[in-house]
This record gives sequence, C-alpha cells and structure tokens, in this order.
Amino acid sequence: MARIGVLTGGGDCPGLNAVIRAIVRKGVTVHGHSFVGFRYGWAGVLENDTVTLDLDSTRGILHRGGTILGTSRTNVFKAENGVQRVVDSMRANDLDALIPIGGEDTLGVARRLSEEGINVVGVPKTIDNDLAGTDFTFGFQTAVQIATDAIDRLHTTAESHNRVIVVEVMGRHAGWIAVYSGIAGGADAILVPERPFDIEQVCEHVRRRHQAKRTFSIVVVAEGATPVDGDAWTAHQTKDAFGHVRLGGIALELEREIESRTGFECRMTILGHVQRGGSPLAYDRVLGTRFGVAAVDAVSEGDYGKMVALRGTQVLRVALDEALAEPKLLDPELYETAEVFFG
Ligand code: F6P
Repeated sequence: MARIGVLTGGGDCPGLNAVIRAIVRKGVTVHGHSFVGFRYGWAGVLENDTVTLDLDSTRGILHRGGTILGTSRTNVFKAENGVQRVVDSMRANDLDALIPIGGEDTLGVARRLSEEGINVVGVPKTIDNDLAGTDFTFGFQTAVQIATDAIDRLHTTAESHNRVIVVEVMGRHAGWIAVYSGIAGGADAILVPERPFDIEQVCEHVRRRHQAKRTFSIVVVAEGATPVDGDAWTAHQTKDAFGHVRLGGIALELEREIESRTGFECRMTILGHVQRGGSPLAYDRVLGTRFGVAAVDAVSEGDYGKMVALRGTQVLRVALDEALAEPKLLDPELYETAEVFFG
C-alpha cells in the first residue's frame, strides 16, 4: 500500500479527469493506496498546496473537460530550492511516489526529479500529440474533432462568399492537429512546422482551384508553421517558464498575404483554446482511463522513472529518458497523403 501524489501540469487537455479518476479508482479499490492531489501542477508541489483525492472527489468527472486539480506551467528547476521543496512536500504528505500527468515540460521536470532519486511515473498528455514515447496522447483526438467540426462550418461560409478561409490550429512545433483535421476537413492546403512553406506556392494552390471553377478554398495552418525564408510568425513576445515562445497569429499574416497576392477575398479564424475545452471524445476517455490504470499499476510494482505509453493497441511503460529524448514530429507519409488533395 502506497501513498501517492497526483498532479496535472502544462496546458489542460480533454481527458485529464479520466486519468485522475482511473488512478484513484484502481489505486484505492485494487491496490489499497491512498492519494493526495496537488493543485496547479508543480506549483502545488512547491507550495504544498493539496486537495483530497479519494473515491468521492473523483466521482462524476469522467466526461468533464479541464482538470479538477488545476494546472500551470511551472518549472521546479527555475524555483529557488525547487528539488528540496518537492522532497519536503512529499515528506509532509508522507508520499512514496508522484504521478505527474503532463507533456514534454511537466514530464521533463519528472525525469530530472527521477534522476534526483524521487519516485515518479509519468502519464503523457497533450493535444499536440508530440511526445515521442507514445503513438498517441489523450486529448489529441478531441482537439482534432473540434478543429474538423470548425473546418466543416467554415467550408459552408467560404463557399457562400467565394472566399479563401485560413484556419489556424494549435500544435506548437508539430503539425499533427493541422494534418489530421486538414485531411478530415478536406483542406486545400495544410501548412505545418515540419515543412516550411512558400507563400507563392500556397497562392498557386488557391489560383489553381479558382481556374478549375472552385470559388473558395480552405487553408489550414499550424500555429508553428514557418515560411521557407523566415522565422515563425507569432503575434506574441512572451516566453513561458520553460523558455517556449507563445505562438499564435500566423493566420493574420496569411490572410493579408493571400488576399494581396491572389486578389481573392480572404478571412481567417484562429481556433485557439476552443481546441482544448469541453468534453473529451470517447477515444480520449478510454485512453486516459487505460493510462491512469497503467500508471498506478507501475507505482504498485515500484517501476519508477517510467512513462505509460500507447504502442499500437498496447499500453506499456517506456523510460522517461527515451520518451522525452526528441519531440515526435509529423510522419512524412501522412503529410504526403494530405498533399494529394491540395489545390
Ligand atoms: O501544448 C498545448 C498547447 O495548446 C499548444 O498547442 C499551444 O501552443 C499552447 O499549449 C498554448 O498554451 P497556453 O494555454 O499557455 O496559451
């Protein structure tokens, strides 16, 4: 029987509550563990800001978006005496292990804490789907569906007005959301960080469609897409605690450029945090549940320094080191499939 701390860090994501519920349900009823929830990610661990996490407090949350624990982008290694404060907080709560649920940054902290001798098992979370150790992260499918629904809606208005509509989706430096939603939504061009784009070529796709009597076009752009001859376009200057610049706003530039170069009326939509909000799809509830169960099983076996992961149809454990070595960028074959439908 162990006492385990659970936290959710980084951007929130549909399915987080499914993971928390699964950890607690299996942990209490099968293994006899008890839990402490830390509020707002690593910030809660540093400040020893806790909430009760038991069968009662995790009932009725499976379908709810966001995270009942709250989240933040906090870097333990930027905080004064960060590691010692984590150790103190664990001692104060009599904890044997931590289960951090997060993306590259939150789990990057977990990996370094593991090197310091702290018992951790990570659960991979991000709508961006850019974590290397796992085929999919939960939250991704929900974000893709939200973006696809938006593209469907934008299609009908683009068609009515003979317009080019640029749809900006999230994904940071990976084009997974853009390509999945772009293929599903029938986009006429998809711009991703992994393939720097030539604006003239994008305009050429649009012109070709108009010559073929298609009077509207949909261009899906990932927030981190970069032109061949420059840096990523972002409307922001700020960086987070992990040194990542805030992305977003490239669609504004594209709207201006495409309209002025082609002469076709152009509008843009930035989907933003809509992609992270609301209820998780069934897929993400199931994956989150499987991850939660697998993580608490790993703690029960004392198999630390690991992250649970989906490989094919199996949920297994991979070393945090391996999982975080490189971000998982877009599969080139998938992009080539999308390209068949451009222009
Ligand atoms: O990592 C998830 C994500 O939604 C990215 O796609 C996006 O760039 C970022 O988080 C936005 O972060 P914030 O919610 O801090 O603005």
